[in-house]
Amino acid sequence: VIDISKLYAQTGMFTYDPGFTSTASCASTITFIDGDEGILRYRGYPIDQLAEGGDFLETCFLLLYGELPSAKERESFERRVTRHTMVHEQMTRFFTGFRRDAHPMAVMVASVGAMAAFYPDSTDVADPNAREIASIRMIAKLPTLAAMAYKYSVGQPFVYPRNDLDYASNFLQMCFAVPCEEYKVNPVMARAMDRIFTLHADHEQNASTSTVRLAGSSGANPFACIAAGVACLWGPAHGGANEAALKMLEEIGTPDRIPEFVEKAKDKNDPFRLMGFGHRVYKNYDPRAKIMQQTAHEVLDELGIKDDPLLDVAVELEKVALQDEYFVERKLYPNIDFYSGITLRAMGFPTSMFTVLFSVARTVGWIAQWKEMLEDPAQRIGRPRQLYNGAVERSFVPAKDRG
Ligand code: ACO
Repeated sequence: VIDISKLYAQTGMFTYDPGFTSTASCASTITFIDGDEGILRYRGYPIDQLAEGGDFLETCFLLLYGELPSAKERESFERRVTRHTMVHEQMTRFFTGFRRDAHPMAVMVASVGAMAAFYPDSTDVADPNAREIASIRMIAKLPTLAAMAYKYSVGQPFVYPRNDLDYASNFLQMCFAVPCEEYKVNPVMARAMDRIFTLHADHEQNASTSTVRLAGSSGANPFACIAAGVACLWGPAHGGANEAALKMLEEIGTPDRIPEFVEKAKDKNDPFRLMGFGHRVYKNYDPRAKIMQQTAHEVLDELGIKDDPLLDVAVELEKVALQDEYFVERKLYPNIDFYSGITLRAMGFPTSMFTVLFSVARTVGWIAQWKEMLEDPAQRIGRPRQLYNGAVERSFVPAKDRG
């Protein structure tokens, strides 16, 4: 046991910052957030412009290499990614070892980590070429693994990637095509999927990204680092919030019950909170939520769902909350999770897949941050300190004398 006065003497001054809410753990050029103004930019480009005018693969290139690709760069990047979409055939046998009812996120944590065993030639973090191949492999193969996790959970055969399709369309066909029926990807669904991937691609030093950086700081291989990120994302306070928002909307059920739930959320003796409202960083409208709301409407319109009671509840709840003094004073606005659950459910995904889809999208952000960390000359192994407030030094008592 170290005497705390000795620890101070050894370390000098340090900050005590639970949850690291006021500590910058790194310098980064990737993502900029201004929570008070509701701004999110990847490499300087506003998120709404990327989601509206670009696509996910372009965003991947931007996050990884710092610039939007030229037409030639785009073509070559797309070719490299599509060449790596297949997973090793032995991985399919690895999948079939899981219980059918295994949560798909458990399968993701295991299968992403297991890639280090299947692709040992890209695990040398000191080699820039190996780092590059590992990055492309993960961006290419995570959708394949995610679709396999889904197919296995519903008892259907795995569907192989189709490299003539774009990234989002290929993912949808791997999830929803069945061998005995013709399946044509609906372009509106593909666009929605692509936007969801773009909106979730990076969000600076959140819990899972910090986890990836910390794991990577020890020199751990890239597949292990991304598996650590997937594991962290699984937590309900991080990747699981859209599922919670959807459950809440289902519980509210009809717009006439909104006032009852709003009052519940304001009651300090009641632990209930309006899920999908508020954000640790955004004290203004989450810029991703606006695009997500528009996407939800597009998907429901395309599917001919004119009166989705959940969307009605969501739109009305947003209206009521934004006029309520309690929410206005505390700057509680809808976040991205408020509308993404409705959209994904309409697209046919079960709630257990929501966080899996988030992990597919966030993989590129994790990789970009991991590469940036390794290339930073200031990089050292992550080693937070602690404020020890346990017992002071005491003498060991043999078991026979402890009573
Ligand atoms: N409903 C009701 N009241 C709320 C809500 C909410 N959703 N969120 C915050 N508040 C209140 C708090 O009770 C507190 O009130 P007080 O000042 O009277 O005590 C005040 O607003 C500030 O709340 P904090 O918890 O301090 O805010 P913080 O920034 O730490 O929390 C968080 C952010 C955790 C996201 C919170 O708003 C919340 O729990 N929201 C619901 C869950 C959710 O939607 N999470 C998804 C986040 S987005 C993402 O992870 C991608």
